[in-house]
Amino acid sequence: MLSNRLRLQAEELRVIRGGKEVLKGITFAVAIGEVYGLLGGNGAGKSTTLLTFLGFLDLAGGNARVNDALVSEDVVAARRSIAYLPESASLYEHLNARENLRYFLGLAGSAGDDESMEAALDRVALPAEARDRRLADYSKGMRQKVAIALAILRNTDTLLLDEPTSGLDPTAIDEFHDLVRTLADDGKTVLMVTHDVYGACQVADRIGLLRDGRLVGEFSAPAGGRIDTEAVHRAFSSREAV
Ligand SMILES: Nc1ncnc2c1ncn2[C@@H]1O[C@H](COP(=O)(O)OP(=O)(O)O)[C@@H](O)[C@H]1O
Ligand SMILES: [Mg+2]
Repeated sequence: MLSNRLRLQAEELRVIRGGKEVLKGITFAVAIGEVYGLLGGNGAGKSTTLLTFLGFLDLAGGNARVNDALVSEDVVAARRSIAYLPESASLYEHLNARENLRYFLGLAGSAGDDESMEAALDRVALPAEARDRRLADYSKGMRQKVAIALAILRNTDTLLLDEPTSGLDPTAIDEFHDLVRTLADDGKTVLMVTHDVYGACQVADRIGLLRDGRLVGEFSAPAGGRIDTEAVHRAFSSREAV
């Protein structure tokens, strides 16, 4: 069930990086239990948008809110409720899956007990035989599973995913999207950055199209259905406003 309560809100967000305005006043919101796909080409401002919710960037204007609170006023609360999967790996290659979970949970101030760690690794379907192998031997899809297991164990209400499926094979992408869907159905809020039109349409309830720092269109899935891939593709490829 979708609630109307909003978990993430960008209100006329403006960000300047390297002297250039890279977000030019973008407004969107993501509700509890919703998967929002932020779609756009390279340099459109997708990763920058995620960073504003984590309070890593100064705003030149507008607001970012997490659970109704301004990130600029309580960055600790914002970060506590968010699990962030950056574009490049954030886990330790020389540790195995269990060791990574234990280490990062410790940093987040919670001790992971063995039983809940195994349950989280079961939920993301990381093969049992892989759990004691160093991540250096993992495929990207397996690393993503460990990162999601960590998010599950931290029990944050919001996931920010930056290009989580780039470099995954089609089967791993489907599996990843299924997992994201079940997390949202459990009430998590997911903001997923991607340049993959098909993947975004497969998993998202809504898609925002970002172009050159502006949100130029939004697409919603019809009740019980999926977002129209063709329409999004046309908008993505066109230089016109949607
Ligand atoms: N650390 C940085 N310093 C200065 N400019 C940056 C930095 N990171 C990104 N940018 C610029 O901000 C714009 C948006 O980048 P980004 O949000 O990473 O785009 P996307 O994730 O959509 O590819 C780009 O023009 C990029 O060059
Ligand atoms: Mg990016």
